[in-house]
Amino acid sequence: MGAVFEAIKNRRSIRKYKADEVPKDKLLRVLEAANWAPSNGNMQSWSFVVTKGEAVDKVCKVFSDFAQEYIPKAPYIPEDQKAGMLKYAENFGGAPVHITVVYDVFEGDDEKTEKSMQAACAAVQNLMLAAWEEGLGTVWISGHVCESQITRDVLDLNETQEIAAIVPIGYPDESPSVPREDVQSKTKWIGF
Ligand SMILES: Cc1cc2nc3c(=O)[nH]c(=O)nc-3n(C[C@H](O)[C@H](O)[C@H](O)COP(=O)(O)O)c2cc1C
Repeated sequence: MGAVFEAIKNRRSIRKYKADEVPKDKLLRVLEAANWAPSNGNMQSWSFVVTKGEAVDKVCKVFSDFAQEYIPKAPYIPEDQKAGMLKYAENFGGAPVHITVVYDVFEGDDEKTEKSMQAACAAVQNLMLAAWEEGLGTVWISGHVCESQITRDVLDLNETQEIAAIVPIGYPDESPSVPREDVQSKTKWIGF
Protein backbone atom coordinates (compact mmCIF):
# COMPACT_ATOMS: atom_id res chain seq x y z
CA MET A 1 0.00 0.00 0.00
CA GLY A 2 1.42 3.44 -0.93
CA ALA A 3 1.76 6.17 1.69
CA VAL A 4 -1.21 8.21 0.45
CA PHE A 5 -3.51 5.21 0.30
CA GLU A 6 -2.36 4.10 3.73
CA ALA A 7 -3.18 7.53 5.19
CA ILE A 8 -6.58 7.61 3.46
CA LYS A 9 -7.56 4.19 4.79
CA ASN A 10 -6.19 4.58 8.31
CA ARG A 11 -7.21 8.15 9.15
CA ARG A 12 -10.22 8.14 11.46
CA SER A 13 -12.20 10.91 13.10
CA ILE A 14 -10.83 11.25 16.63
CA ARG A 15 -13.12 12.37 19.44
CA LYS A 16 -10.82 11.73 22.41
CA TYR A 17 -7.41 13.40 22.69
CA LYS A 18 -4.41 13.47 25.01
CA ALA A 19 -3.69 16.88 26.56
CA ASP A 20 -0.08 16.92 25.20
CA GLU A 21 1.01 20.06 23.36
CA VAL A 22 1.25 19.79 19.59
CA PRO A 23 4.66 21.04 18.33
CA LYS A 24 4.38 24.04 16.02
CA ASP A 25 6.56 22.42 13.34
CA LYS A 26 3.97 19.65 13.01
CA LEU A 27 1.20 22.22 12.66
CA LEU A 28 3.21 24.04 9.99
CA ARG A 29 3.59 20.83 7.96
CA VAL A 30 -0.12 20.12 8.27
CA LEU A 31 -0.94 23.66 7.10
CA GLU A 32 1.51 23.30 4.20
CA ALA A 33 -0.35 20.17 3.06
CA ALA A 34 -3.69 21.97 3.31
CA ASN A 35 -2.36 24.86 1.26
CA TRP A 36 -1.38 22.48 -1.58
CA ALA A 37 -4.99 21.45 -2.20
CA PRO A 38 -6.44 21.97 -5.68
CA SER A 39 -8.67 24.99 -6.24
CA ASN A 40 -10.77 26.51 -9.01
CA GLY A 41 -8.45 28.47 -11.28
CA ASN A 42 -5.82 28.04 -8.55
CA MET A 43 -7.70 30.75 -6.62
CA GLN A 44 -6.54 29.33 -3.25
CA SER A 45 -9.38 31.30 -1.69
CA TRP A 46 -8.93 29.69 1.72
CA SER A 47 -7.24 30.74 4.92
CA PHE A 48 -6.50 29.14 8.26
CA VAL A 49 -6.99 30.21 11.85
CA VAL A 50 -4.91 28.23 14.34
CA THR A 51 -6.08 28.55 17.93
CA LYS A 52 -5.23 27.24 21.36
CA GLY A 53 -5.92 28.28 24.94
CA GLU A 54 -8.72 30.76 25.56
CA ALA A 55 -9.87 30.88 21.92
CA VAL A 56 -10.27 27.09 21.89
CA ASP A 57 -12.15 27.21 25.20
CA LYS A 58 -14.57 29.85 23.90
CA VAL A 59 -15.39 27.91 20.71
CA CYS A 60 -15.81 24.72 22.73
CA LYS A 61 -18.30 26.54 24.96
CA VAL A 62 -20.38 27.54 21.92
CA PHE A 63 -20.62 23.87 20.96
CA SER A 64 -21.12 22.64 24.50
CA ASP A 65 -23.94 25.11 25.26
CA PHE A 66 -25.68 24.06 22.04
CA ALA A 67 -25.17 20.34 22.70
CA GLN A 68 -26.50 20.49 26.29
CA GLU A 69 -29.79 21.73 24.83
CA TYR A 70 -29.84 19.63 21.69
CA ILE A 71 -28.54 16.16 22.55
CA PRO A 72 -30.90 15.28 25.45
CA LYS A 73 -33.94 16.08 23.24
CA ALA A 74 -32.70 14.51 19.96
CA PRO A 75 -35.06 11.58 19.29
CA TYR A 76 -32.71 9.82 16.86
CA ILE A 77 -29.80 9.53 19.32
CA PRO A 78 -29.98 6.28 21.34
CA GLU A 79 -30.37 7.06 25.06
CA ASP A 80 -27.31 4.99 26.00
CA GLN A 81 -25.11 7.13 23.72
CA LYS A 82 -26.18 10.52 25.03
CA ALA A 83 -23.85 10.69 28.06
CA GLY A 84 -20.80 9.92 25.90
CA MET A 85 -21.84 12.48 23.33
CA LEU A 86 -22.33 15.14 25.99
CA LYS A 87 -18.85 14.40 27.35
CA TYR A 88 -17.36 14.76 23.85
CA ALA A 89 -19.35 17.97 23.40
CA GLU A 90 -17.62 19.60 26.39
CA ASN A 91 -14.44 20.21 24.38
CA PHE A 92 -14.45 18.02 21.24
CA GLY A 93 -12.69 15.30 23.22
CA GLY A 94 -9.96 17.58 24.60
CA ALA A 95 -7.97 18.52 21.48
CA PRO A 96 -5.52 21.27 22.55
CA VAL A 97 -5.48 23.03 19.16
CA HIS A 98 -8.08 23.88 16.53
CA ILE A 99 -7.37 24.68 12.90
CA THR A 100 -10.31 26.44 11.30
CA VAL A 101 -10.40 26.34 7.52
CA VAL A 102 -12.06 29.43 6.11
CA TYR A 103 -13.18 30.16 2.56
CA ASP A 104 -13.80 33.45 0.80
CA VAL A 105 -17.35 34.42 -0.14
CA PHE A 106 -17.76 36.27 -3.44
CA GLU A 107 -20.67 38.67 -3.11
CA GLY A 108 -23.11 38.26 -6.00
CA ASP A 109 -21.31 35.21 -7.44
CA ASP A 110 -22.80 32.09 -5.86
CA GLU A 111 -21.02 29.77 -8.29
CA LYS A 112 -17.59 31.15 -7.41
CA THR A 113 -18.45 31.00 -3.72
CA GLU A 114 -19.53 27.37 -4.04
CA LYS A 115 -16.25 26.49 -5.74
CA SER A 116 -14.37 28.40 -3.06
CA MET A 117 -16.10 26.25 -0.44
CA GLN A 118 -15.34 23.07 -2.41
CA ALA A 119 -11.64 23.97 -2.63
CA ALA A 120 -11.54 24.68 1.10
CA CYS A 121 -13.02 21.22 1.69
CA ALA A 122 -10.17 19.72 -0.34
CA ALA A 123 -7.80 21.64 1.91
CA VAL A 124 -9.53 20.17 4.97
CA GLN A 125 -8.99 16.63 3.67
CA ASN A 126 -5.32 17.33 2.87
CA LEU A 127 -4.95 18.75 6.38
CA MET A 128 -6.47 15.69 8.04
CA LEU A 129 -4.36 13.23 6.03
CA ALA A 130 -1.15 15.14 6.75
CA ALA A 131 -2.09 15.24 10.44
CA TRP A 132 -2.45 11.46 10.40
CA GLU A 133 1.06 11.18 8.95
CA GLU A 134 2.31 13.38 11.82
CA GLY A 135 0.72 11.03 14.37
CA LEU A 136 -2.06 13.51 15.09
CA GLY A 137 -5.80 12.96 15.21
CA THR A 138 -8.46 15.26 13.77
CA VAL A 139 -12.20 15.49 13.32
CA TRP A 140 -14.14 17.64 10.84
CA ILE A 141 -16.57 19.84 12.80
CA SER A 142 -19.45 21.48 10.95
CA GLY A 143 -22.88 22.90 11.75
CA HIS A 144 -24.07 25.30 14.43
CA VAL A 145 -20.69 26.06 16.02
CA CYS A 146 -19.27 27.07 12.63
CA GLU A 147 -22.16 29.44 12.01
CA SER A 148 -22.27 31.03 15.44
CA GLN A 149 -21.47 34.76 15.63
CA ILE A 150 -19.53 34.08 18.85
CA THR A 151 -17.26 31.67 16.95
CA ARG A 152 -16.86 34.19 14.13
CA ASP A 153 -15.90 36.91 16.64
CA VAL A 154 -13.40 34.66 18.45
CA LEU A 155 -11.78 33.78 15.10
CA ASP A 156 -11.88 37.42 13.94
CA LEU A 157 -13.62 36.62 10.65
CA ASN A 158 -15.00 39.29 8.37
CA GLU A 159 -18.26 39.23 6.41
CA THR A 160 -16.59 37.83 3.28
CA GLN A 161 -15.39 34.72 5.11
CA GLU A 162 -17.20 31.49 5.99
CA ILE A 163 -16.02 28.41 7.84
CA ALA A 164 -15.59 25.15 5.89
CA ALA A 165 -14.60 23.22 9.01
CA ILE A 166 -13.26 23.59 12.49
CA VAL A 167 -10.66 20.84 12.89
CA PRO A 168 -9.68 19.96 16.46
CA ILE A 169 -6.18 18.47 16.34
CA GLY A 170 -4.04 16.64 18.89
CA TYR A 171 -2.58 13.29 19.89
CA PRO A 172 -5.30 10.62 19.67
CA ASP A 173 -6.45 8.86 22.83
CA GLU A 174 -8.64 6.35 21.00
CA SER A 175 -8.45 4.28 17.82
CA PRO A 176 -11.98 3.85 16.51
CA SER A 177 -12.88 1.73 13.52
CA VAL A 178 -15.56 2.90 11.16
CA PRO A 179 -16.89 0.80 8.26
CA ARG A 180 -17.37 1.77 4.65
CA GLU A 181 -19.96 0.56 2.20
CA ASP A 182 -18.68 -1.41 -0.77
CA VAL A 183 -17.45 0.98 -3.46
CA GLN A 184 -18.77 -1.26 -6.26
CA SER A 185 -22.33 -0.65 -5.07
CA LYS A 186 -21.74 3.09 -5.51
CA THR A 187 -20.03 2.98 -8.89
CA LYS A 188 -21.55 3.08 -12.34
CA TRP A 189 -19.16 2.07 -15.14
CA ILE A 190 -20.00 3.47 -18.57
CA GLY A 191 -18.16 2.51 -21.73
CA PHE A 192 -16.03 -0.20 -20.12
C1 LIG B 1 -18.71 17.59 5.81
C2 LIG B 1 -18.47 16.82 7.09
C3 LIG B 1 -19.03 17.28 8.27
C4 LIG B 1 -18.79 16.61 9.48
N1 LIG B 1 -19.29 17.14 10.64
C5 LIG B 1 -19.01 16.54 11.82
C6 LIG B 1 -19.40 17.15 13.05
O1 LIG B 1 -19.99 18.23 13.06
N2 LIG B 1 -19.10 16.51 14.19
C7 LIG B 1 -18.40 15.34 14.22
O2 LIG B 1 -18.13 14.83 15.31
N3 LIG B 1 -17.99 14.74 13.06
C8 LIG B 1 -18.27 15.32 11.86
N4 LIG B 1 -17.80 14.77 10.70
C9 LIG B 1 -17.02 13.52 10.74
C10 LIG B 1 -17.85 12.31 10.28
O3 LIG B 1 -18.77 11.96 11.28
C11 LIG B 1 -16.90 11.13 9.96
O4 LIG B 1 -16.01 11.51 8.94
C12 LIG B 1 -17.65 9.87 9.53
O5 LIG B 1 -18.46 9.38 10.57
C13 LIG B 1 -16.70 8.76 9.07
O6 LIG B 1 -15.78 8.43 10.09
P1 LIG B 1 -14.20 8.54 9.82
O7 LIG B 1 -13.87 9.99 9.57
O8 LIG B 1 -13.55 8.03 11.09
O9 LIG B 1 -13.86 7.68 8.65
C14 LIG B 1 -18.01 15.42 9.48
C15 LIG B 1 -17.45 14.95 8.28
C16 LIG B 1 -17.66 15.66 7.10
C17 LIG B 1 -16.99 15.18 5.83
